[in-house]
Amino acid sequence: MKLNKLFVVAVIAIAAPILASADEGADTYNAACTACHGPGIAGAPKVGDAAAWKDRISKGEETLVKHAIEGFQGDAGMMPPKGGRMDISDEAIAAAVKYMIAQASE
Ligand code: HEC
Repeated sequence: MKLNKLFVVAVIAIAAPILASADEGADTYNAACTACHGPGIAGAPKVGDAAAWKDRISKGEETLVKHAIEGFQGDAGMMPPKGGRMDISDEAIAAAVKYMIAQASE
């Protein structure tokens, strides 16, 4: 029994840094954000569309992360808190926002 617990702790310790890797943003985006931000439905700024993101990026990354976590009602539509995925950590949402910003800046 004790060994089992140790094993679980070890797996979490090994997995945590992997989950926080550079791909976390892309993975979170693909899991929770692409439904709206991929095609750009319901007023969602399309990922990779530099023009759609320019004014948003100028608000600053911190503000965009806050809006993604807490939700945001803008002129274009309604960004639900965490895209409706409250099971996703704030860190993973922040990584997804960074990913989206990077896509728009290319
Ligand atoms: C149900 C559709 C939907 C989903 C799912 C969704 N979004 Fe959005 N998002 C929107 C809409 C609509 C807006 C535009 C709101 C406006 O400006 O009027 C938006 C805007 C944003 C913005 C810009 C906020 C600002 O201040 O300009 C960010 C950043 C963002 N979303 C991140 C995310 C992330 C990260 C995810 C995944 C975890 C996600 N969104 C999932 C609909 C969605």
